[in-house]
Amino acid sequence: MTNTPITKQDSNLASHLANHEAAINAAHLADEVALIEQLIEEAGLSPEQRLSIQDRAVTLIDFIRDSGQPGLMDQFLAEYGLSTNEGIALMCLAEALLRVPDAATIDALIDDKITPYNWNDHFGHSNSALVNASTFALMLTGRVLDDDNTSSVAGLLNRTVKRLGEPVVRIAVKRAMQEMGNQFVLGQTIEQAIKRGRAEIRQGFRYSYDMLGESALTMADADAYFAAYANAIKVIGKSGKGGPITERPGISVKLSALHPRFEYAKADRMRQELVPRLTELALLAKEHGMGLNVDAEEANRLEPSLSILRETLSDERLTGWDGFGVVIQAYGKRAAAVIDWLYTLATDLDRKVMVRLVKGAYWDSEIKHAQVEGIYDYPVFTRRVATDVSYICCAKKLLAMTDRIYPQFATHNAQTAAAILELAQDGQAYEFQRLHGMGETLHNHLLHHEKVSCRIYAPVGPHKDLLAYLVRRLLENGANSSFVNQINDRRLPSRKLAADPMERIALLGSRRTRGLISPTGLFAPGRQAARGWDLSSSTAEEEIESARGPFHATSWNASPLMVGKYVGTEPLLLSNPANPDDIVGSAIFAIAEDANNAAASAQTWENTSTRERARYLQRTADLFEAEFGELFALLAREAGKTQADAVAEVREAVDFLRYYANQAEILAAAKPLGIVTCISPWNFPLAIFTGQIAAALAAGNGVLAKSAEATPLIAGKVVSLFHHAGIPLASLQFLPGTGAETGDALVRHPKTAAVIFTGSTRTAQAINLAMAEDLVPNAPLIAETGGINAAIVDSTALPEQAVRETIWSAFQSAGQRCSALRILYIQEDIAPGFLTMLYGAMDELSLGD
Ligand code: FAD
Ligand code: 2OP
Repeated sequence: MTNTPITKQDSNLASHLANHEAAINAAHLADEVALIEQLIEEAGLSPEQRLSIQDRAVTLIDFIRDSGQPGLMDQFLAEYGLSTNEGIALMCLAEALLRVPDAATIDALIDDKITPYNWNDHFGHSNSALVNASTFALMLTGRVLDDDNTSSVAGLLNRTVKRLGEPVVRIAVKRAMQEMGNQFVLGQTIEQAIKRGRAEIRQGFRYSYDMLGESALTMADADAYFAAYANAIKVIGKSGKGGPITERPGISVKLSALHPRFEYAKADRMRQELVPRLTELALLAKEHGMGLNVDAEEANRLEPSLSILRETLSDERLTGWDGFGVVIQAYGKRAAAVIDWLYTLATDLDRKVMVRLVKGAYWDSEIKHAQVEGIYDYPVFTRRVATDVSYICCAKKLLAMTDRIYPQFATHNAQTAAAILELAQDGQAYEFQRLHGMGETLHNHLLHHEKVSCRIYAPVGPHKDLLAYLVRRLLENGANSSFVNQINDRRLPSRKLAADPMERIALLGSRRTRGLISPTGLFAPGRQAARGWDLSSSTAEEEIESARGPFHATSWNASPLMVGKYVGTEPLLLSNPANPDDIVGSAIFAIAEDANNAAASAQTWENTSTRERARYLQRTADLFEAEFGELFALLAREAGKTQADAVAEVREAVDFLRYYANQAEILAAAKPLGIVTCISPWNFPLAIFTGQIAAALAAGNGVLAKSAEATPLIAGKVVSLFHHAGIPLASLQFLPGTGAETGDALVRHPKTAAVIFTGSTRTAQAINLAMAEDLVPNAPLIAETGGINAAIVDSTALPEQAVRETIWSAFQSAGQRCSALRILYIQEDIAPGFLTMLYGAMDELSLGD
């Protein structure tokens, strides 16, 4: 924590914002249908207004369609359209080619990957270019392409080459790349961009320039982006006429470009390092009398963004400057509440701010992220019309706050623009905005016929920094649901395209977007996915803290849980591996005699019906989720797990339980082996321990479970939850102890019919030998052991992605996964740059407890 003193003004502000912050958190958790109904009610548009919007929209749509000048993007899509197989194939190739270092390699790559005769030899299942291409195709089209030659990306490229011929493809790919660059980027340098934009400026358009680059992974990259922004502000500041700030050109910045750890969990670093950077840029913009706009990025950056915006805006030195801009994404469930928060902030600080209302550019990745993390619900609306409705309601709100807010409506959708025209009062100060390369006809009309100010958001920078932005634009333009795509489909009547989204949403009722299930419903109807925790939200942080807080000083005891009495060792004290002063509890280990006695009394539970067994496992999973607070505390204090690792571990354990419960029912006829000894390691003391036991129990086996020496307390808690759920003691006995004594006795006991082991190769071999000496010859050993895992990075890989995954794989779970990356092979041509990025990103990691 920083030691910045809290002044009286700060505390007043905090109390004024507190209600809004509560509303923001409530909206995050709210049911989307109820939330939309509430927004519609609050906006209170009259039936006449809604009809009038529709009529205006039809006029606008007809005008765009009749203008007969399809935009560049439309022509491009018509030629290499994402709805054609060739278009997808070319985009995929272009995506990989963008990174390849030199012309000779580019030609070699095309030859290698596209020449039909080489095809089968070179396109293996694990070909990295192919994997990239498939991923890209999936992002662009939402279609999963099979790996056989008829429908794979490989097959597509192959057929495209056959149809067009190799030289044509080479030209087309180059052309596609150039077109994409020119289409979406105004210039490679700020000077070029200003020059290229002159014609638009003469027509009356304004610009907000955006220096390409985002998600910096290293401080050196963040420094370079900062320098590019600062330089651009100086150059832009000198361009254009004087006059009010709203009429001047501005700049748009992304916070993720300015700091390599712009994350919720890094609040202190944000305050100490990112706030000063943003403030410096804002002061520079103030000095040049221009606007500086902070783009909105992923939903998990929203909470940290608000803290940063608040701190920056509170700087006294910015008094009197009305150029601070904030972007709000209407597809986010928190949008309307954030507007209220911002209005209060501006009022309290006596400032005027600019608000750019957008719908949001990260929808696909928000959906995927929420599914991967098992977050209770999506942070964004799941119906396109809900986003449209939210946008209109937020617009209405902004138009009622113009004493503090200068609204900037960024949209290419004529229906949405019609709503703004209808809602705005005569003479109200506001503007429309579009992206460079999109929505030209609509905005020409808005500027020249409706006489409303329009600004163009114009990316500037080298092609190497274009990719992330480009993917978002291609998704936006390629999506069937998007307005820019639909307006070109003449089969869709204008009236339909102009339909009132409020009416359409009412007709939809509670239906989600087709095919989109809730994040925890991913495996339905088979099983429920494990719940996750959104570690980028204060709501989840509070939930976790209040659940695990009571256990911060608990001292646990573990001892054998077996039929009959145990002899046991003297109690052993266990301390927190990250803090030896924190005594976590004590454990009594089972000695060899205890292990033998437990084995002798062990029983299968095959006579319990499969359905019943599955129910017990399900119940155990539910208990894990209900008692997550104690499990998180144990994982942190006994096993030194970080919060994110603790979340992942509980989720994995819950998934194992539900998965095996489900499998038990599917494989109802499978016979149990008998008594199974389970021996698990300390690195995943909850997940692996649980997984082994659940697998064995599901099939009706009896289990003798030995936990790792270092983590008996977690194991003891887990076994008590299994018992609590109804699993009989004789079918699950717990024998904490050493491998040499307890483990050895168990794997040699004649009742052991099988061993499930996870750990080192050496111990696995020792177990194998012991089993060979003492057990029936065919007793199976299921051993999962460590190894040396390698990754290969070639020049077609996106370096940022490869660096991120390398670090994740090598250091997540303290590098103690059996699948952790140990050796990285890098193509020599890209090695120096790649290593600089990798080491720079590693420098940003910090070692904590
Ligand atoms: P429309 O086609 O009317 O709407 C598309 C919107 O619907 C998209 O947001 C899409 O995600 C959403 N959508 C699609 N399917 C669904 C579904 N099933 N459920 C819910 N919603 C769905 N975006 C940012 O995120 N951050 C920014 O800082 C930002 N700055 C911008 C600046 C300008 C000047 C402009 C013009 C755009 C900016 N954008 C930004 C991009 C913007 O989000 C997209 O251009 C915008 O979403 C397109 O909206 P539309 O009204 O033109 O299109
Ligand atoms: C984006 O980068 C325009 O900010 C928006 O997609």
